[in-house]
Amino acid sequence: PLVKDLFGLTDLEERIRSHYGLRQVVIVPGDSDVSPHTKKELGRAGASVLRKLVREDEVIAVTGGSTLAEVAYHLTAANPMKGCWFVPARGGLGESVELQANTIASTMAKKAGARYRLLHVPDHLGEEAYQSLMQDDHISEIVQFIRKARMVMHGIGDAMVMARRRKVDSETTESLQRDGALAEAFGYYFDREGRILHKMPTIGLRMEDIQRMDTVIGIAGGKSKGEAIVSVLKHGHEDVLITDEAAAQYIVQRL
Ligand code: G3H
Repeated sequence: PLVKDLFGLTDLEERIRSHYGLRQVVIVPGDSDVSPHTKKELGRAGASVLRKLVREDEVIAVTGGSTLAEVAYHLTAANPMKGCWFVPARGGLGESVELQANTIASTMAKKAGARYRLLHVPDHLGEEAYQSLMQDDHISEIVQFIRKARMVMHGIGDAMVMARRRKVDSETTESLQRDGALAEAFGYYFDREGRILHKMPTIGLRMEDIQRMDTVIGIAGGKSKGEAIVSVLKHGHEDVLITDEAAAQYIVQRL
């Protein structure tokens, strides 16, 4: 706490928290864009928040990404997590294996001494494949299980960075750009005002599931993500934000 006060981070946390009506904001010093150490600290802070907020026998949905991978790395076995289940929030977004939500969910469960269930869905689903997947009993059972989650932890990305990384087709990418997409979270793309512009065709949590959750935890840092974080905060479903100093500076300038 002393170090935080020295950097004025406690004050930043409170300004962001009260402006967006969040339950909690945690800011770690530095800029994840340029410092791998800061990104690690972000992961450590994420693991600590998760440990504190989790209840017994809870289903916890998680997204993919390098930030969530850092959270997974820092999780340790804790009593309340034993009966918990980690599940991917949504399937098949086009990430490489290490960054997929399935990978993160299973790693988190192993580190925390909890259990996991996975959702195997191909990337870049067409409408027909989507419809037939939803009719599969096994898939629909696991999707129901995922929708029981009362807590989700998710990354936030810059829209164009994420579209490129996940190899979104050029037509969709162009329309996202034209419509002013700034942010991406759980396969949803948002504009400056936090309005949803596009939803990646995959299964798992829907926005209505996320809205009725008890605890939505967003975790993202780096100056380059400032704008994206603001747009997701404006969308208004977050309860907890974990970020770094560089992104927080950007966020407060836009209050
Ligand atoms: O939805 C956004 C991504 O999951 C963020 O990925 O943590 O690797 O930047 P990242």
